[in-house]
Amino acid sequence: MNKSNKSYLFLTVIFCLVIIYSSFNSGSLLSSEYRDGETIFKNICATCHVRHGKVIQEGLKSLRFSDLEERGIANINAISEIANEGIGYMKGYKNKLGEGEDKIIAEWIIENSKRGWDIQFNK
Ligand code: HEC
Repeated sequence: MNKSNKSYLFLTVIFCLVIIYSSFNSGSLLSSEYRDGETIFKNICATCHVRHGKVIQEGLKSLRFSDLEERGIANINAISEIANEGIGYMKGYKNKLGEGEDKIIAEWIIENSKRGWDIQFNK
């Protein structure tokens, strides 16, 4: 083995160690990124909370800011607890939420409900 082959080998080993190390830290290979609120909502919540989060199926409760306020849950702590533990007929989704994602989705919901759910989903 000549000298330059050795240094390639060395670099490869270092590279592998970095990958292995980062996968231990993040729980999944090369994806230490959190999902953002919109992605979490689309992935988990949007099937029931349809029409941009306004309505839980026609006629039932909604994620309108006024509704959340009326029920005393118009804050990040309450919404993240609902996301984790559920409420009434809704089950909790803590198994599907990564670490910290309960707060991210809660913040995103509060923000969008305050803006009247004016966001456009691009799908
Ligand atoms: C399988 C359907 C379903 C999914 C998925 C779902 N929900 Fe719900 N959600 C409901 C139902 C049904 C209610 C009303 C529960 C009740 O009061 O009995 C509700 C209620 C809520 C409420 C309270 C609304 C209010 O005005 O009282 C919040 C907040 C909420 N969901 C957030 C979320 C979040 C965040 C997610 C995603 C992590 C999510 N939901 C996923 C069905 C769902």
